[in-house]
Amino acid sequence: MRTIALYGTVAAIITAALVLFGTQGGPAFTTETYERIHRPQSQPDRQGPSVSHSQSHSGPPKPPWEFDYRRSGRNYGLSEDQCSVAFPELYKEVDRAVAYRRRVGNVTLEDLEVGWRGDGIVRAMIHNNQLYIIDPHGVWDHNHRPRALATLHALDRAISAAAEPLPDIEFTFTVHDSALMGPNDNHTTFAFSRLAHQETLWLMPDFGFWGWPDVGLRSYSELQTMLDDDEDDFLDKVPKLIWRGSLAVGSQDARAGLVEHSADQTWSDVQTLDWGNKTDIDDKLLTMEDHCGYMFTAQTEGNTYSGRLKYLLNCHSILLSHELRWIEHFHHLLQAGGKEQNYVKVKRDFSDLPKKMKNLLKPSNLLKAEVIADNARRVFREQYLTPAAEACYWRALIRGWASVQGFKPQVWGESELEDDWRGGKRSKKRMRGAPFESYAIMEQVEWNIPAKPRRVCIEE
Ligand SMILES: *[C@@H]1O[C@H](CO)[C@@H](O)[C@H](O)[C@H]1NC(C)=O
Ligand SMILES: *[C@@H]1O[C@H](CO)[C@@H](O)[C@H](O)[C@H]1NC(C)=O
Ligand SMILES: *[C@@H]1O[C@H](CO)[C@@H](O)[C@H](O)[C@H]1NC(C)=O
Repeated sequence: MRTIALYGTVAAIITAALVLFGTQGGPAFTTETYERIHRPQSQPDRQGPSVSHSQSHSGPPKPPWEFDYRRSGRNYGLSEDQCSVAFPELYKEVDRAVAYRRRVGNVTLEDLEVGWRGDGIVRAMIHNNQLYIIDPHGVWDHNHRPRALATLHALDRAISAAAEPLPDIEFTFTVHDSALMGPNDNHTTFAFSRLAHQETLWLMPDFGFWGWPDVGLRSYSELQTMLDDDEDDFLDKVPKLIWRGSLAVGSQDARAGLVEHSADQTWSDVQTLDWGNKTDIDDKLLTMEDHCGYMFTAQTEGNTYSGRLKYLLNCHSILLSHELRWIEHFHHLLQAGGKEQNYVKVKRDFSDLPKKMKNLLKPSNLLKAEVIADNARRVFREQYLTPAAEACYWRALIRGWASVQGFKPQVWGESELEDDWRGGKRSKKRMRGAPFESYAIMEQVEWNIPAKPRRVCIEE
């Protein structure tokens, strides 16, 4: 209950107590709480839970809480106020999705059906700051399984670290690159990415913020640690443009343009990969830290969005990218010009790449250009793409969804008849789905006890 002190007034304490202990814990609190996100820094002198105990002894007033990357970048449990102060511009996509729902009407239980997607979709619920998996729908193949597990773990991390009660919600998320089934599909679900017209989608942080071990990215925060400890100074980096990738993807046009317009250039280390050819991969694949060893990194869309953007933005390097069609939750923070410029925009077909590279590499320009890398590191690695920000975003998403959730999630499922000790029958209530703690181990929502051992297949 210590966290409640930050509200400061008796009225707030009563409200908070009702939220914690009242049976109607959901929507009213939710809406009110969510609104506060729209007024970041409304009371800059307000302090988060870590400093509230200072009220008990006198002394000079402490300065307002500020986000410090070194101290709090890994803090998954910032309070909601701290989240607003630390990342005032983070919640744009949540605000947009909420505004859309206010226009077209609240989310309904029918919106939570999963059949439309076929596979790669999970129905889940949060109740009393506890994550439940209701229906993991076709998430067992080599593509969906790691993504679904990564997403659930990241979400659970944000929930279990929460400093405050979260509203109860029920929702679905899909781990497909392209969440919707066609141009006219307007289903409602959490997704990693969306096109501008796909307004029904609610963007969540992609699975790579947890880890993407299949491609060698063992842990997002480990990458940040390695870069903090080991990254070269900008001017010591290889003065070339780095890119590795396959041309066999949806956005082939952009990737082919990059390959074409960087061919035979002294500043280019652009090479295509053939994922089906082990020699090719062994020869040419680079780790993310290797990418950060170059002054210039190239970003291209993949099948839809490209999962590597958030990693490349962690480098203290200059990112060159075409305009992105697929939106992720942080893309609005990319700046192509002005004092805050944090990347260099090129044409989708990269035809202006040679000119831009020549310009950037002029000795008289390079120092000026370094500011772009400085801005990127400050805005992304050290602020909006910290693990702390990711957790804040998840909780804002939960609150935003709750504010337009037109139903109350049901925790209890159907009663079942069970044998009682006298050999008669009694009715037993069951909670729906499986709590995350069990799902993380069983990867099922129901199992017999004693359970059959799970078989794990590791190919040799
Ligand atoms: C989806 O499209 C249908 C038909 O245009 C419309 O009636 C409905 O409101 C839309 N649903 C959402 C959530 O936007
Ligand atoms: C596989 O990659 C290597 C190295 O890039 C290349 O020399 C070889 O021709 C490739 N093999 C096939 C079958 O494409
Ligand atoms: C929409 O849902 C919110 C949150 O549950 C609720 O407060 C509001 O009254 C609902 N609006 C309508 C029109 O039902």
